[in-house]
Amino acid sequence: MKDIVEIIKTRRSVREYKEDQIPDEDIKFLIDCARFAPSGFNMQPWSFLVIKNKDVMRKISEQGKKSMIPLLEPVKNTSKKAADFLVYLKTKGTDMFYNAPLLIIILANKSAMTADWDCAMAAQNMMLAAHSKGIGSCWIGGVQPALMDEKFLKELGAPEGYKAIAPLIFGYPKGKTEAPGRAEPEVKWLK
Ligand SMILES: Cc1cc2nc3c(=O)[nH]c(=O)nc-3n(C[C@H](O)[C@H](O)[C@H](O)COP(=O)(O)O)c2cc1C
Repeated sequence: MKDIVEIIKTRRSVREYKEDQIPDEDIKFLIDCARFAPSGFNMQPWSFLVIKNKDVMRKISEQGKKSMIPLLEPVKNTSKKAADFLVYLKTKGTDMFYNAPLLIIILANKSAMTADWDCAMAAQNMMLAAHSKGIGSCWIGGVQPALMDEKFLKELGAPEGYKAIAPLIFGYPKGKTEAPGRAEPEVKWLK
């Protein structure tokens, strides 16, 4: 087990994966780490959709592209990153999940006041726990607009009363991901 600070600082969003699937016992380990996240009133308002099926992942990716492309068109001239992402999404055969073998969607119980934040905390626990075991991950917010469609989410198996918060991919990294760097945050010390 590596030092927690080293884990935090060396985790990367991985976008190239080997084909090997993560063993079920490690998937259970990630979910176990997720449930130790803090949550408002300790409501633990999360639910996990574990998707290993390639066809289902492809379907979500295609639906994700369909929903995301019209949102990016209006901003493509103001952001180079948005323009590049748009080209990627429009390229035939591209996968919003970067061919990762595993997708876990963290769902939030809509009745819990702090569910969105709770689920984001659970997501971070999972990504850090994954990294501690040599498993790469990436939050794929690009498919969020598709997952906002309640009918689509239900078709995927989401329980009634839950919404999607964190679509996370996992897999063994192919090669090394360069750190994108960090800016100095604005910090005000009130005296
Ligand atoms: C809410 C959220 C949504 C994200 N959505 C995507 C995405 O759709 N596709 C992607 O490749 N990366 C996505 N990322 C990963 C970020 O691009 C990445 O965290 C950032 O570039 C910093 O890199 P690092 O995670 O390696 O430190 C997302 C991250 C967050 C927190």
